[in-house]
Amino acid sequence: MAFISNVAVKAAGVAALLVVAVVSPAARAAAVAVAGGAPSVPAGPLDIAQLGAKGDGKSDSTPMILKAWKNACEATGVQKIVIPPGNYLTGGLELKGPCKSSIIIRLDGNLLGTGDLSAYQRNWIEIENVENLSINGHGTIDGQGALVWSKNQCQHSYNCKILPNSLVLDFVTNVQIRGITLLNSKFFHLNIFECKNVLIDKVTVKAPGDSPNTDGIHIGDSSNVTISSTTIGVGDDCISIGPGSKMIRIHGVKCGPGHGISVGSLGRYKDEKDVEDVQVTGCTIAGTTNGLRIKSYEDSKSSLKASKFLYEGITMDNVSYPIIIDQKYCPNNICVKSGASKVAVNDVVFKNIHGTSNTPEAITLNCANNLPCQGVQLVNVDIKYNGSGNKTMAVCKNAIGKSIGLAKELACI
Ligand SMILES: *[C@@H]1O[C@H](CO)[C@@H](O)[C@H](O)[C@H]1NC(C)=O
Ligand SMILES: *[C@@H]1O[C@H](CO)[C@@H](O)[C@H](O)[C@H]1NC(C)=O
Ligand SMILES: *[C@@H]1O[C@H](CO)[C@@H](O)[C@H](O)[C@H]1NC(C)=O
Ligand SMILES: *[C@@H]1O[C@H](CO)[C@@H](O)[C@H](O)[C@H]1NC(C)=O
Ligand SMILES: *[C@@H]1O[C@H](CO)[C@@H](O)[C@H](O)[C@H]1NC(C)=O
Repeated sequence: MAFISNVAVKAAGVAALLVVAVVSPAARAAAVAVAGGAPSVPAGPLDIAQLGAKGDGKSDSTPMILKAWKNACEATGVQKIVIPPGNYLTGGLELKGPCKSSIIIRLDGNLLGTGDLSAYQRNWIEIENVENLSINGHGTIDGQGALVWSKNQCQHSYNCKILPNSLVLDFVTNVQIRGITLLNSKFFHLNIFECKNVLIDKVTVKAPGDSPNTDGIHIGDSSNVTISSTTIGVGDDCISIGPGSKMIRIHGVKCGPGHGISVGSLGRYKDEKDVEDVQVTGCTIAGTTNGLRIKSYEDSKSSLKASKFLYEGITMDNVSYPIIIDQKYCPNNICVKSGASKVAVNDVVFKNIHGTSNTPEAITLNCANNLPCQGVQLVNVDIKYNGSGNKTMAVCKNAIGKSIGLAKELACI
């Protein structure tokens, strides 16, 4: 549920992993190119198996992973932590910087987050204050959420206790996450907070469509974040983009099931920063409740701007609300309905978007009287209602801009 995204972000914490291998001359050269310095010999192994971790799915591997992180973090140059094939059960892993090294975590095994909630301070794997990080491999970060989803109260109450997010990056600069799978998180799968220059590529994120608050990737207060060639099917937003997000690039993403690709909810807290320059291109959204959404609270607590959005080349397949801007978001009627928005939505282009919807309302632009949405362009949008007894329509209020190349029933501006 994106309405608690900010809470989750603010609940972010710390942690660590791993081990050292013999570095080939070529790898050493590559490492030097990345880190700009020669690697030193770490004080101990970086392979968690060498540190005594047993991949039996039962023994606690937390201390070995923390030790590997410490060994890598205190060395210089590029250091590679290895999680070999096997099933490694752990509790909270607070992997803290600053580190002297650039760290690669090679994940070929499966990390299993214990169902014992007392084993977490806040989140599960929390990497904080690090420069130059890469997590890659064919392994899985398995939150084992099914063990605790019944304890999630956030569906019903606002000030709920937040279950551990699976992978949290706080204040991390230059990070690549590639190839891995994030499975069945207890809460969000990947939370990116105060990060710069992030690439998420060829990642799979997976949880049941009815699992609570299992957002795929949440971004907040971060800039230059790219998500490419990634498949996300979860119980909440596939991707949610919170306040303070700038230069976000999403392409080649398959989303569904889930709640779609959302900006917001904006305006929940005081002092939120603007959202600016978001591009979502070449994506497929299937069987979700929303497709492309921008939402802000009707009783916004801060004044901010959301501007410069390009949504282009998107295929919708049986999406309930494919295109939706909602400046009057008020889940469960928890807000004061003043009707006066403080979140300005400007410069939003929806271009070459086609496919089917599961309700007649293919386009919904629900903007505020006091602060109409400006510069909205609908260009070659062709979405058909995939049902009977009604026909495709656009429902638009207070949206200013233009429609180009749309059928009459969708050309609402
Ligand atoms: C991160 O990479 C940059 C560019 O290669 C390098 O200058 C810097 O020293 C690296 N930082 C660390 C902590 O290794
Ligand atoms: C954005 O991040 C990528 C790495 O994902 C980096 O190569 C690029 O230089 C960054 N761009 C800017 C403008 O910082
Ligand atoms: C479309 O989505 C609805 C609701 O999510 C679902 O019940 C229905 O089976 C889906 N139809 C198809 C053809 O996938
Ligand atoms: C809805 O989509 C499904 C699968 O694409 C198709 O088989 C079905 O005929 C469609 N229904 C309508 C009413 O268009
Ligand atoms: C068609 O759908 C619209 C929007 O969901 C709804 O308001 C209207 O009542 C529906 N009409 C019929 C005949 O079902």
